[in-house]
Amino acid sequence: MSQLFSEFHLKGVSLKNRIVVSPMCQYSADDGVPNEWHMVHLGARAIGGAALVIAEATAVSPEGRITPGCTGLWNDGQAEAWAPIVRFIKTHGAVPGIQIAHAGRKASANRPWEGDDHIPPGDPRAWDPLGPSPVAFGANLPRVPHELSKDEIIRIQSDFVAAAKRALAAGFEWLELHFAHGYLAQSFFSPIANKRTDEYGGSFENRSRFLIDTLKAVRAVWPEQYPLMVRLGVNDFTKDSQPLEESIQLVKAFKYQGMDIIDVSLGFNTPDISGVPWGPAFMAPIAARIKEEAAVFAAVGWFINEPQQAEDIIAKGQANLVMLAHKELDDPHFPYHAARALGVADPQNVLPPQYAHWLKRR
Ligand SMILES: Cc1cc2nc3c(=O)[nH]c(=O)nc-3n(C[C@H](O)[C@H](O)[C@H](O)COP(=O)(O)O)c2cc1C
Repeated sequence: MSQLFSEFHLKGVSLKNRIVVSPMCQYSADDGVPNEWHMVHLGARAIGGAALVIAEATAVSPEGRITPGCTGLWNDGQAEAWAPIVRFIKTHGAVPGIQIAHAGRKASANRPWEGDDHIPPGDPRAWDPLGPSPVAFGANLPRVPHELSKDEIIRIQSDFVAAAKRALAAGFEWLELHFAHGYLAQSFFSPIANKRTDEYGGSFENRSRFLIDTLKAVRAVWPEQYPLMVRLGVNDFTKDSQPLEESIQLVKAFKYQGMDIIDVSLGFNTPDISGVPWGPAFMAPIAARIKEEAAVFAAVGWFINEPQQAEDIIAKGQANLVMLAHKELDDPHFPYHAARALGVADPQNVLPPQYAHWLKRR
């Protein structure tokens, strides 16, 4: 019996298997409004058999976008544009999820295939990046962020709350907070990016404050029956990163504040990624440790490309869900192909009947 193809129930939501389409920015929106590209990109992956399809890092405010092409949920028109995409995902058997985000000091950048660097400040497309401290990321993102005041921090938290409400109005049933990859929330937690001396900087408790308060505020408006997931960058694998033990402490605090599942990822608070132990499914043992020590449900991604690898992660209990990005780009029908490779009975049933009916006859 494949564990990868076993159901997973969390709060009021049932996933038909353990495969999740990891959030992937498409840099293809205008004014934050998703369009036909997002419908086909996300819809194709729902058809392909993933149990949960999480839409890309979607900005809670215009200045929270990574690039001018990022999606948003800072106005009702954006929520209305998401609604038919959500409907399509649901109709074809997947749970629709979305990640809400603020890009912080990594904001105001060109699309990856157009340079992946900060747009020069004088350019009409540029805006001012924001951060906990006036410390630049460096390398391709050299702009020094504006140091947020307390009032500005509170306003951004209310933007997260408003975006969560709009996600609900659009029909999403799974919400992920983007507290990873060097974006705003992650940079508050990271001693690399956060040099504040007020109640938002310094000690573990202070560096956690922005993340905990944001989670609490969002949980208050996100219905109990729908899962709230947090993607946390648990380590930067550099000597000045927060230690993994601190991240485990933070995950425990998230759980206490109503997080339902942790999505274990990387920090990316520094361009120096030479210490990251890249390799097949390299984050799985770290996720397993967090899952065990914090006693939480966990999802994990990074270099999971093979059916058996995904099966083993779930069967060994290293994580409850696998998050796939590159493999899903390579093969939107990966869940169907994995079901076949793992000897699941009637693997065609991973697909909607429009396809399954014909494939069963061959
Ligand atoms: C095109 C692309 C866009 C991505 N955008 C996001 C994003 O919006 N939010 C996020 O948390 N991670 C994002 N990521 C990271 C993936 O979600 C994933 O964690 C990472 O690629 C590792 O998984 P993989 O080895 O299966 O690709 C993106 C990755 C890719 C390839």
